Amino acid sequence: MEYDVAFVGLGYVGLSTAVCFADRGINVLGVDIDSKKINRIKNADSPIHEKYMNELLEKAIKKNRLSLSRKVADVTKAKIIFLTVGTPSRKNGSIDLKYIEQASKDIAIAIKDIEEYFVIVIKSTVVPGTALKIIDNLEKHSRKKNSIHFGVIVNPEFLQEGSAINDTLRPDKIVVGVNSEKDKKIIYKLFKKIYRKNLPIVYTTPSNAELIKYANNSLLATKISFMNYISRIAERIPDGDVNEIKNAIGMDKRISESFLNAGLGFGGSCFPKDVKALIAFSKELGVNSEILQSVLAINDTQFMSVFNILNKELGQLEGKRISILGLAFKPETDDIRDATSIKIIKRLLDKKAKVRVYDPIANNNTKRIFGSSITYAKDSESCIRNSDCCIIVTEWKEFKMLKPKDFIRLMKRPLIIDGRRIFSKKQFNKLEYHAIGLG
Ligand code: UDX
Repeated sequence: MEYDVAFVGLGYVGLSTAVCFADRGINVLGVDIDSKKINRIKNADSPIHEKYMNELLEKAIKKNRLSLSRKVADVTKAKIIFLTVGTPSRKNGSIDLKYIEQASKDIAIAIKDIEEYFVIVIKSTVVPGTALKIIDNLEKHSRKKNSIHFGVIVNPEFLQEGSAINDTLRPDKIVVGVNSEKDKKIIYKLFKKIYRKNLPIVYTTPSNAELIKYANNSLLATKISFMNYISRIAERIPDGDVNEIKNAIGMDKRISESFLNAGLGFGGSCFPKDVKALIAFSKELGVNSEILQSVLAINDTQFMSVFNILNKELGQLEGKRISILGLAFKPETDDIRDATSIKIIKRLLDKKAKVRVYDPIANNNTKRIFGSSITYAKDSESCIRNSDCCIIVTEWKEFKMLKPKDFIRLMKRPLIIDGRRIFSKKQFNKLEYHAIGLG
């Protein structure tokens, strides 16, 4: 075999995992139908913005550990084939499996006349039961038998954007949904070369592995919406402060301190999509998912806290200059998929406000949505200059460097809405400082 492993789909998960495997000495073939993407990757120019990505990519290509192809049929040159294609949302929130179905069909046709035993690993996020459908699809198009000629494993991914490389190399857990001892041995042999000695592997069935991914993300989203709900209560209490609640409850080991930050809601390519998909899947099973519907409802309306403050402080927004610091759905990424900034900007434009924005790396992506209807600043200072109000939407480190005197010096009116609690209320008490979850 020419390669140890192949990846079908070089998006966030596929590319991050491929370069990390290559860095551990594995010979990897990356397949994607997008030739522009393939060309960029070949030139060690990562299509995604991620720490350490370009360095690892360059190293992998130089050492000949990462080869690229546009043809799914080439995966037969590897023994283990990872499926890392996208599983987008349909209009009703359920997941669309068309890419994964197409990829498995292409793989089936490719392996049809080859004697070798292949292991197909589903890394894409898929609802329970999908692996079984993929097995049917593979059997139908390859005329081969599951467990005899090929095996299917479910191995969901938990990496976060902004720390994808580190999360991939040092995961809290590795979930392996597998039904046969033979496949278990094959995947263990590979993972032993990649991860640390005491592998935190959780073996389970493929369907449970599929559900683990949704339960994991939905619970994290629930923690965030829960804290956003508490923040709404704290805001209505004169000396209320959601951060004090967070610090205290986070000390309870049963709760843990992570993902308790109230803010302007969660965005990105996973949480909104995965929560919606689990709701749609529950509905198919006749299971009530009010809990997750509330998580989404809180998230959809959380940005309105900003407008409650704006209404009180500025009244009519027509002609008012509003500056926005931070556009990406979270720091260290230029990703604006489902970002709160989009909802806020849309509403500000509806109210005829003048909007100026700045993000260290997401200005260009935002331009694709809003074009010339808003203005784009080159730095924080020029963004907030002469504005009537500044809204902090993403907690980039460089915004934390801004001092109260900068806002006083530059803004027309030093009115600040801290949507991510990056400033201390004590330090900013000389300004008109408002923040999420602060009474
Ligand atoms: C998430 C999951 O964490 C990851 O395991 C999965 O594989 C993909 O989805 P990601 O989308 O990269 O990762 O971002 P994450 O860091 O989880 O943040 C998601 C959103 O929640 C962001 O908009 C962030 O601002 C928000 N968030 C996070 C909060 O509002 N409060 C918190 O305490 C944490």
